[in-house]
Amino acid sequence: MSNLFALNHGDVTIRLVRHRDARTLERLVLSNREWLRPWEATNPHGSTSFDFKAQVRGLLRQLDNQEGVPFVILFQDEIVGQLNVANILYGSVSSCVIGYWVIPQVAGKGITPTAVALAMDYMFDEIGIHRVEIDIRPENNASLRVVEKLGLRLEGLKQGYIHIANAWRDHYVFALTKEEVTEGVLSRWINGRVPKISYEYDKKLRN
Ligand SMILES: CC(C)(COP(=O)(O)OP(=O)(O)OC[C@H]1O[C@@H](n2cnc3c(N)ncnc32)[C@H](O)[C@@H]1OP(=O)(O)O)[C@@H](O)C(=O)NCCC(=O)NCCS
Repeated sequence: MSNLFALNHGDVTIRLVRHRDARTLERLVLSNREWLRPWEATNPHGSTSFDFKAQVRGLLRQLDNQEGVPFVILFQDEIVGQLNVANILYGSVSSCVIGYWVIPQVAGKGITPTAVALAMDYMFDEIGIHRVEIDIRPENNASLRVVEKLGLRLEGLKQGYIHIANAWRDHYVFALTKEEVTEGVLSRWINGRVPKISYEYDKKLRN
């Protein structure tokens, strides 16, 4: 995995995070608190750390342990966000979870769906993962659009699943298995072959 340098489509690149990215990530996260806070994981047992050097060290430790693949997202060669592949399980489960954010200055350009598609294809084709999951708060309309664009399946609702913005929040669970996207997630999306799915969201949970 350490040979992986970068994956690219058009203006969007994802590459492994490096220790020296910590300062850029700190600047981007700290200057966009209002944008990120409603969707950011928090520590249920105390305050949340903004030690970005330690965060990057932790992510690269997960990479070494083959538990995660931490990417930064670049748009036109500038870091604009992060995409983390986490909770990798091998063997008879062979699954992982993806999380992501981008800065508001580049929102709405399709950067995240491109980054997610690149990461999903990599996990399916190179790592041998069978199922990729993405968990999203019902209120997060922008993130729901990301999985809708790529045609992930809605599997259900995990109640009080992740501690976000200082409370345990429900999350919709979306997933795709490798055999559902034989042509690849990116190819299926950019060639307009994502099937039309009617998502059965619970209206009471949405904004
Ligand atoms: C969710 C997020 C990653 C989407 O990234 P993106 O690269 O903007 O994705 P897209 O370009 O596909 O846009 C997705 C939706 O965002 C919304 N959007 C577009 N421009 C926007 C803007 N300037 N501001 C806010 N939302 C916008 C639209 O609903 C869009 O859907 P559409 O293309 O059907 O109109 C990004 O909004 C973000 O980082 N939000 C804060 C952190 C977060 O929510 N992370 C995900 C947690 S599950």
